[in-house]
Amino acid sequence: MSSAKSATPADYDFLRTFVATQTGIELGPDRHYLVENRLLPLLEEFGFSSLHHLCLALQPSPQPPVLRERVIHALSTHETSFFRDPELFTALRSEIFPALLELHPSRPLSIWSAAASSGQEAYSLGILAAEMHLQPRPEITATDISAPVLAQAATGRYTLYELSRGLDNSALIQKYFTPVSGGAAIRRELLPPIHFAPLDLRHVPPSFPSFDLILCRNVLIYFDENTRARVVQHLIDHLLPGGFLVLGAAETIWQDLPCMSKVQSLLASYHQKQLT
Ligand SMILES: C[S@@+](CC[C@H](N)C(=O)[O-])C[C@H]1O[C@@H](n2cnc3c(N)ncnc32)[C@H](O)[C@@H]1O
Repeated sequence: MSSAKSATPADYDFLRTFVATQTGIELGPDRHYLVENRLLPLLEEFGFSSLHHLCLALQPSPQPPVLRERVIHALSTHETSFFRDPELFTALRSEIFPALLELHPSRPLSIWSAAASSGQEAYSLGILAAEMHLQPRPEITATDISAPVLAQAATGRYTLYELSRGLDNSALIQKYFTPVSGGAAIRRELLPPIHFAPLDLRHVPPSFPSFDLILCRNVLIYFDENTRARVVQHLIDHLLPGGFLVLGAAETIWQDLPCMSKVQSLLASYHQKQLT
């Protein structure tokens, strides 16, 4: 039911365009209630009497940076968990890392967790590498467009609820986390180096490094077709020959790209870049 605080259809169109321009995320035409539910809590915090006033404040360019960031954060999906899609982590252990180690037995492997959200994927990769005793230790880069999720990721602190999602193995919690008020903090000294940085996947600079393994999961589904194609091309451009690209379970490389082969194993599906 609409109230004096609700967004008008014109405000909703404005917010859809705003989010698409800022992040590439397409909000469907039927997400009105989701948008309202997520933005209404910001009204009191920023002193607006309605969503219409919030939209007006976003209209000058550049927008007030904190408001811009909070609106983008509120309207994006940051859902993630430790060892999300466990079969994939089994495939990393038994198929992907062994293949990469055969190609590069003596140099550190480089890994990119793209659209890393609050860091659970990057830390899961770190824990897996530590459990596998990968030597030399790989180097992990984790990026996301959202500053608030990266800030949480960098602290390495998670609530008990967040830990319970994917880390039900209490031996791993005992080994890799220290208790802190309300949850636990990851013991980064036990893991390979993990570096967190902001990055919009639509604009990856050519100077950004290339990697042996890229995980970019559960973000392409939110983009339109052109943005998806552009982001996939950036990922491939930053994948080293023989390197692996892992997308989300509902995602694939939609274009036919001769430089990439699809691997469908019993555990997971992923893509490998040709060696030459
Ligand atoms: C659903 S989460 C996926 C997290 C993790 N990859 C996983 O699968 O568990 C999607 C993440 O994509 C990020 N994102 C959205 N648009 C982005 C963009 N244009 N560039 C980089 N990250 C983006 C969001 O901030 C969010 O943290």
